[in-house]
Amino acid sequence: MDTPSTTTQPSPIEKVVQFVDERIGLQKLQAKMLNEPVPGGSRWAYVFGSVLLFIFIMQAVTGVLLMFYYVPTADHAYASTQYIIHEVDYGWFLLSYHFWGSTAMVVCVFAHMSQVFLWGAYKKPREMIWLVGLALFGLVMGFGFTGYLLPWDQRAYWATTVGVEIMDKTPIVGDFMARFLKGGPTPGQMTLSRFFVIHVMILPALLMGLAGLHLFLFRKAGPAGPFRGSPEELKAKTDYFFPRQIWKDIVAMVAVFFTTACLAFWEPVVLLEEATPDPGEYHPEPEWYFLFLFQMLRLKIFSGEFGQFVAATGLPGLFMLFLAALPFIDRDPERNIFKRPLALIGWLVVMGSILVFTVSAIINREFLE
Ligand code: HEM
Repeated sequence: MDTPSTTTQPSPIEKVVQFVDERIGLQKLQAKMLNEPVPGGSRWAYVFGSVLLFIFIMQAVTGVLLMFYYVPTADHAYASTQYIIHEVDYGWFLLSYHFWGSTAMVVCVFAHMSQVFLWGAYKKPREMIWLVGLALFGLVMGFGFTGYLLPWDQRAYWATTVGVEIMDKTPIVGDFMARFLKGGPTPGQMTLSRFFVIHVMILPALLMGLAGLHLFLFRKAGPAGPFRGSPEELKAKTDYFFPRQIWKDIVAMVAVFFTTACLAFWEPVVLLEEATPDPGEYHPEPEWYFLFLFQMLRLKIFSGEFGQFVAATGLPGLFMLFLAALPFIDRDPERNIFKRPLALIGWLVVMGSILVFTVSAIINREFLE
């Protein structure tokens, strides 16, 4: 007598997975992605890079949805943004999420940069990860700057005017860059078109390419791990990316998502009057993450054309050059931040100054209003 077969047939989904796996090696890819060793075990401090990738994806999704309604012309940009806020179902939330998402990205990029700096992760053999990271930092700030103009209200128009004037002060390339971005004597249709193309095409393409390179270099060098502990201790505590680190990353992404959504809900975007070349009662100022630069420009020691150049582009440019040269200047393999007093003091001074200048710019604004 025949006995019934006990082998179960694969389900249709399993068959599809098997089909794809045989052709592109899904399982190998999954193992490669998840089985990355994390020396010394998972840490909350390592979540910022993954969170940045998550925020970028959310910005791309909300940005594409906004583009279904937004019209990038000087005649219609303001009206179409008002339409998104007042007429499109949940349009106000989408726009406000995108707006607060940009703030979240700037905060996280500062946190990620601080973490890799304090952990000494820029040192040999991770110099190239650091350099590509600096380019990514420039792109994140570029997103904020170009996106600010798009609603075409007084705030957008005047923040861009101030920003382009600051850029104009850069020697040699400043004049060209300012003329290229403005596309005319005053911000107008050409400016809007150029900012729009840079914001929705050039910067996302560059960010995707450079983030890919950043991750490739990171996988080549491997994670730096904690700055304390002997190689034996670290080896004993070594864990894989999955499950502990990935869970920490997911918890951080969920926290960032809810914080951004709550901010969008409680502080939704409200436009000012439509852009005109007359500022009227409005005191022009840039987005909060450029406020420290704006406040520096107001200092007496930076008055006069040369002083303005020093504050606007000289000092920030030199500082970025210094950061780019840092892994090549600092050749000491010591990564423990408590044994690198100069690095710790330097970080505290830079962060403290940015904080003080930003807060005093906000106080100044309250005073003017
Ligand atoms: C859009 C911006 C950025 C994205 C999406 C991003 C993404 C990532 C990711 C996913 C990692 C892997 C592990 C981790 O999260 O620590 C990483 C590592 C790293 N990133 Fe970034 N990053 C960005 C910007 C930056 C910036 C501005 C810097 C510094 C200037 C930087 C420097 C580094 C370094 C040195 C590592 C290696 C860390 C280690 O080995 O522990 N990144 N980044």
